[in-house]
Amino acid sequence: MSVAVLVPAAGRGERLGGSGPKALRLLRGEAVVVHALRALQSCADVAHLVVAAPPDATAEMERVLAASGLRPSWSVVAGAEHRQSSVAAALDALDPSADVVLVHDAARCLVPVEVVQRVVDAVRAGAEAVVPVVAVSDTVKQVEGDRVVATVDRSRLRAVQTPQGFRREVLDRAYAHAGEVATDDAGLAERVGATVRVVAGHPEAFKVTGPLDLLLAEAVLRAR
Ligand code: CTP
Ligand code: MG
Repeated sequence: MSVAVLVPAAGRGERLGGSGPKALRLLRGEAVVVHALRALQSCADVAHLVVAAPPDATAEMERVLAASGLRPSWSVVAGAEHRQSSVAAALDALDPSADVVLVHDAARCLVPVEVVQRVVDAVRAGAEAVVPVVAVSDTVKQVEGDRVVATVDRSRLRAVQTPQGFRREVLDRAYAHAGEVATDDAGLAERVGATVRVVAGHPEAFKVTGPLDLLLAEAVLRAR
């Protein structure tokens, strides 16, 4: 089974602030997206990567990836307005021979290879869809205005990371029926009736979202 990864990297990074798209921001001298692709390519099963770039920065994305020394098994497409439409654009461009498809946020640029491998292995073992998860460590409360209405049993909750993995036909079906924007790809697969399995995620697969995350990412790289 041939494994490909779709990498949405077309966001503007508004919560991070600063200038330029988040995926092209430098982290210890290298673009965030290059860190992400390197992490994905360190899984030997990953044969191809399709990167969805900001529509006005596809040439720059190609330049950055070409200069990075990554294996040349990547291609770049123009992303779109929402993450979901960026993933759809990458899926449209994907070679039909890929029968296991992972979707991975460029912003989760330090994902450990064992997480990628667990997701690939679970799909290869027969799962329709797979998500890496971590426990929720904060207490979670449901609120209405300034009033708490319930305390949710966090032992049954999981925070979901990427890469999320899919049998090709499941992801194709999920995107063919994608209506309202879902917050993750597995959410679309759930809507078409797929069974979504979980595997262990990893704290270092966190998403670079705000300025504090950039500091954390720098510290993780230094410690490695
Ligand atoms: N993404 C994308 N296309 C979009 C929006 C997001 O490909 N139109 C990608 C981002 O580049 C990122 C991933 O989806 O790798 C997760 O999105 P997020 O962390 O929200 O990144 P941004 O949308 O760039 O950040 P913000 O929401 O703060 O602007
Ligand atoms: Mg966003």
